[in-house]
Parts: sequence; structure tokens; C-alpha cells
Amino acid sequence: MSKRNAVIVRDLIKIYKLGEIEVQALRGLNMNVRKGEMIALIGPSGSGKSTLLNVIGGLDKVTAGSIRVFDTDLSKMSPAELVNFRRGTVGHVFQNMNLIATLTAAENIELPMAALGIKEDERTRRVEELITVVGMKDRRDHKPGELSGGEQQRIALAAALANDPPLILADEPTGELDTENARIVVEYLRKINQELGKTVVMVTHDPRIARVSDRILRIHDGVVQADVAPTSEGQQADYGDLLRGRVDELDVTLAGLESQFKAGTLTGDEYVDQQMSLTKTMEVLREELHRLGIVN
Ligand SMILES: Nc1ncnc2c1ncn2[C@@H]1O[C@H](COP(=O)(O)OP(=O)(O)O)[C@@H](O)[C@H]1O
Ligand SMILES: [Mg+2]
Repeated sequence: MSKRNAVIVRDLIKIYKLGEIEVQALRGLNMNVRKGEMIALIGPSGSGKSTLLNVIGGLDKVTAGSIRVFDTDLSKMSPAELVNFRRGTVGHVFQNMNLIATLTAAENIELPMAALGIKEDERTRRVEELITVVGMKDRRDHKPGELSGGEQQRIALAAALANDPPLILADEPTGELDTENARIVVEYLRKINQELGKTVVMVTHDPRIARVSDRILRIHDGVVQADVAPTSEGQQADYGDLLRGRVDELDVTLAGLESQFKAGTLTGDEYVDQQMSLTKTMEVLREELHRLGIVN
């Protein structure tokens, strides 16, 4: 079963204890990510998206349930084993603070390799390769402060690839970027997924960014509420279909209104009134579709 799966999560529970208070961040979450797949996690703030990425990435121990990443069972690992797993398997990109300000772009990419004891020749070769992958070769000697936010994130992507990990975790990698830079960064992430064959799990709150992936999982209160893979079945997909059907209906009604107005069976005021009201409903439905990550 795990031949095709990069990540298998079963009944995952993560409870944070803050003194007397317990916060249940994940409440029995299930999901699979196939090898070579690019997944987007969307969902409201505090729903458990970062917690999920952190336990997949071995940054945090689970409370209960099981989690397998490339055939490694993380739920049974000691903290030291988790560090080792993470080093070999995971490249993690965050919203910000990925880079060291005093190092150049090339040095930032090289740093994780040095930590692994990779020889200098090999390091230089890989830095060249990775900086080219993210289209930043001509900026190799710039410090982060001399690069735009989008360029910094492209360097952060290259640095995450330094150890050639099979899994890339990206937690709101475009969260602080303007629309254009966000689009560019997510396209590089997609390129890394498709051309280098890396499995990617990305958190984003932007439906336009989520749409670049193969599948969108909506997280709510620590569980997967909707899986909007094109092939997915079940309640949530049906809900999406329902919404989409409603939008199509409204389109027809709107067209009908127009012909009634042209035929003189509706006054101008009536037409404008009804048209505005329908358009508003349509907007709400479209927003809901976007929220679910459904391309419409
Ligand atoms: N280190 C932590 N200690 C205590 N509570 C935490 C910690 N990290 C996250 N939480 C809580 O767990 C819940 C999920 O948080 P998080 O995974 O960061 O959500 P998201 O990334 O979807 O915004 C929130 O209620 C949050 O306050
Ligand atoms: Mg988060």
C-alpha cells in the first residue's frame, strides 16, 4: 500500500499542553499523499495546518495515531531519530525567516550541505544546479536584504532542496508576497514537483495558489473536511457539485432576465434589481467554491 504513498496519516491526534490547558490541534486526521503528488492544504487560521506539517516533517511528536513518511513510522521514533529522519527526508519552507541575513544567496543554499558533511566540490556543483533551478543564478552573491521577497523565497526553495530530500513541506510560502511574486514562487514549487519529482505538501490560504496543486485538502478543526481531488467522491465533492450546479442555474436565469428585458416583459428597474440580486448570490456561491478550492 505504501509503494505509491509518500505520506500516510491515520487518526492523527496532536494535543498541546500549556500548563493546565490542553489544545487539541489535530483531532483524528486522516490523509494520504501519493509519491510525486503536490497537495495544497487550505483552511482557517488555527485549524491545525502548521501542526500537521510539523508532525509530518518530524519537528513535533504526535500524541496518538500513526504517521508514515516514505515508509518510516514517525509515531514510534525518539526525538533524536526524528532529527535524523528530518535531515534526510524533508525540505521545509516557511512564510519568512528562511534565510540567514549575513550570508549570500549561494551560501544560504550551501549551508545545509555543509552541515551534512558534503565535500566542497560537490557542494559547489549542487549550489550551481539548485540556484539555476529557481532562476536565481545571476543573484548568487546577493544577500537576502538585497533581494525581493519573492526572490528570497526562491532561494529558500533551493536551500530546502540542498540535501535532495524527497519531500518538500511549504508553510504559507507565498503568505507575505504580492500576487505576482506569489504566482512566480508557487510555479517554481510546481516545477520542483514536476521536474525533480519531489512530493510537495503546501499550506496556503489563497485559492489561486492552491489551484496550482494536484489536490486540495480543506482542514477544519483538526480534521480533513474536504478533499477536492478531481476524482474524489463523497459528501464534500457532492457539495461542490451542488454549488457548481447552482451557479450554472443562476447563469441561465440571468440570461433569461436579459431576454425578458429586451422583449419588454421586464422594466429597466425590475431588470437591474433582479440582476443585482442574482449577481450577489452568484458571488457568494463563487466565493464558497473558491473557499473549497474548486476551480470554477
Ligand atoms: N506550540 C504550540 N503550543 C500550544 N498550542 C499550539 C502550538 N502550536 C499551535 N497551537 C495551537 O494549535 C491549534 C492549531 O494551530 P496551527 O497548527 O498553527 O494552525 P494553522 O496553521 O492552521 O493556523 C491552534 O489552536 C494553536 O493555537
Ligand atoms: Mg499556520
